Amino acid sequence: MLIKSRPPFASEITPREIVESRRDFMRHLAVGSVASAAVIEMAQREAFAQNSTIARLPATANPAYVLSEKKTSYKDATTYNNYYEFGTDKADPAENAGKFKSHPWTVRIEGEVKKPVTLDLDKLLKLAPIEERVYRLRCVEGWSMVIPWLGYSLSHLLKQVELTGDARYVEFTSANDPQQMPGARSRVLQWPYVEALRLDEAMHPLTLLTLGMYGELLPNQNGAPLRLMVPWKYGFKSAKAIVKIRLTKDQPRTSWNVANPAEYGFYSNVNPEVDHPRWSQASERRIGEDGFLSRKRKTLMFNGYSEVAGLYSGMDLKKLF
Ligand code: MTE
Repeated sequence: MLIKSRPPFASEITPREIVESRRDFMRHLAVGSVASAAVIEMAQREAFAQNSTIARLPATANPAYVLSEKKTSYKDATTYNNYYEFGTDKADPAENAGKFKSHPWTVRIEGEVKKPVTLDLDKLLKLAPIEERVYRLRCVEGWSMVIPWLGYSLSHLLKQVELTGDARYVEFTSANDPQQMPGARSRVLQWPYVEALRLDEAMHPLTLLTLGMYGELLPNQNGAPLRLMVPWKYGFKSAKAIVKIRLTKDQPRTSWNVANPAEYGFYSNVNPEVDHPRWSQASERRIGEDGFLSRKRKTLMFNGYSEVAGLYSGMDLKKLF
């Protein structure tokens, strides 16, 4: 019997035409400025078959959103996650979300809009130029990361649907599929995961409809295929795997606020002066950069994004935390 001393090359197990069409396709993806959902689905299948990383998402760096701070490593950003639909341990999402089917995908936009619409990922990817923005993410648990996100301002999407005069809040609903999401079978939160912003917060240019990170489409554990990123608020406001965006007249109920209103307010702006009952908010540990025994960083008001201060003028942010 012949014993092979090396694993077979793809060309030995895959017909030549298929190998070549894959190569053409990968080349096409590399040079294209806008990826389509069909292209992405094929790329993901390809990546899966090759046991490699997922598809690249072409983007242009936005110079307004660069940071001099060191970026968190891809490994840390994709293995230390909060995504309770896949478990409550930081390692659970990377372990359990691998097979989550994030393509094809549609998002429903409804409520106080003149043109309710269901958009598929293809449309979302083409709606506005994809930018890379390096944002800090500050979790209420006292840690932070610096991540190059890919997407565009949520306002581009909201402008498409023509809001009615009664639209004052925007509610974001995450996918809820207990068959695919083991954590969604538990009662740790009320499902689906729901978060919300005031309309002016949602329209602020910083609020990012996020489709990728580190030059690639979002990995499942980080909220594929689309999530929010609101960098001046605690991480839990940034809902993952969004299936519905609803414009409302009244302030929506949100998952963490329902679970524990004393600990999680509606606004949840990063604020070093308002401690969470269990965790000080005055300082933070940067994941990957500092060891557990190292000096912590001071947390900045609005996570350092002072340009949003005007949204809250006249408000008592200690009461409206
Ligand atoms: N979205 C959903 N659907 N479910 C979640 O459990 N966790 C939130 C937020 N979005 C969460 C979610 C919390 S607490 C944080 S800190 C961030 O996602 C973490 O994002 P990351 O894993 O990409 O760092």
